[in-house]
Amino acid sequence: MAIRVVRKKGDEVLYKPCKPVKDFDNKLHILLDDMYETMKKYDGVGLAAPQVGILKRAVVIDVGGGKVELINPEIIEESGEQTGSEGCLSVPGVYGEVTRPNDVTVKAQDRNGKWFKMTGEELLARAICHETEHLEGKLFLDRVIKFIE
Ligand code: NI
Repeated sequence: MAIRVVRKKGDEVLYKPCKPVKDFDNKLHILLDDMYETMKKYDGVGLAAPQVGILKRAVVIDVGGGKVELINPEIIEESGEQTGSEGCLSVPGVYGEVTRPNDVTVKAQDRNGKWFKMTGEELLARAICHETEHLEGKLFLDRVIKFIE
């Protein structure tokens, strides 16, 4: 595994929509492993492939409950609301209040291409929303209600 360079705000790769993953091969597995190691190194709870310069629909999340890998994720249900502090490894040192659904159900493929569904609440729901938006070329900054000093 290797630590990859995290692209920062202003880097054009962060503002482009990502392409679906089609090959569930060793290259994808290395990418996912590297993303997880990179996320952990910088104390993040989620990382999307474009943040390491790869325009593919793949994210890793770990909000404390273990590693979650979502390939080609699609949010299929959301409910409730939560407002809380959010940050991003691509925007270091900046935190802001963002409103998100409290519960999110996502359909995604695992690293071998198998489809599954999972539901997250609170911080996990927030991370799923934040990371899937990266795949659309969007940063959380657009959603901030109030920046936290
Ligand atoms: Ni982010």
